[in-house]
Amino acid sequence: MKPSVVILTGAGISAESGLKTFRDTDGLWEEHRVEEVATPEAFHANPELVYRFYNLRRAQLRQASVRPNAAHKALASLESALGDRCLIITQNVDNLHEQAGSERILHMHGELLSARCSVTGRSYSYTEAFDASTPCACCSLPGTLRPDIVWFGEVPLYMDEIENALSGADVFIAIGTSGQVYPAAGFVQVAKQYGARTVELNTEAPTRPDAFDDYRQGPASEVVPAYIQTLLDEHK
Ligand code: APR
Repeated sequence: MKPSVVILTGAGISAESGLKTFRDTDGLWEEHRVEEVATPEAFHANPELVYRFYNLRRAQLRQASVRPNAAHKALASLESALGDRCLIITQNVDNLHEQAGSERILHMHGELLSARCSVTGRSYSYTEAFDASTPCACCSLPGTLRPDIVWFGEVPLYMDEIENALSGADVFIAIGTSGQVYPAAGFVQVAKQYGARTVELNTEAPTRPDAFDDYRQGPASEVVPAYIQTLLDEHK
């Protein structure tokens, strides 16, 4: 029987693809105060700054050099092997999992390459820069389009699907996440309570060794392909 594998990814999996993490030295939040760019209050108080911040990140993501790395590719190959018994829950707003070929992905913190209408709540694909003057595709009004990002103080997406997946997981793997932001930081405990084997893959030593049964330290591009191979070999 193929195992049911749930993977939680964070900014660390995309670091070697050229995207900054949040809390490392020189991380994204060191350049801006979180409250200035990633809260509904910030958007209300200074929409120009918030639009500019996300337009810049959107442009960075579209740079030719930002490509999926070996870790994203290994997870895509895991999905090829396991089909619907493999699910990625990502806190990342980039699209590198999709570019690598994964299809079963829940973007719990939203997506950079989409926009959301703040009147209807509808999200749609939007790869270019936009701001308050950009007419919304669903209601054609200016000033209604906002970044399709779950900001601090907002409720993450897909929580029912996530709970359901965690409750049926045989293996839970957390990759490149500092475990500082809830509810994602609590998923390991939920999966463990339901009986999953829990594994952490990160460059840093584990901060919560009690929560994880297994740990591999190193860059995602090395430890993820190696661990995925081990997992596939175990279940041949
Ligand atoms: N390989 C593996 N792990 C790495 C690598 C790498 N090459 N580089 C960095 N890391 C690890 C760091 O050790 C750290 O534990 O990735 C983690 C990055 O942590 P954060 O910057 O806190 O990112 P993340 O956990 O995804 O943040 C969660 O916080 O600000 C919000 O909404 C934002 O989704 C984000 C959430």
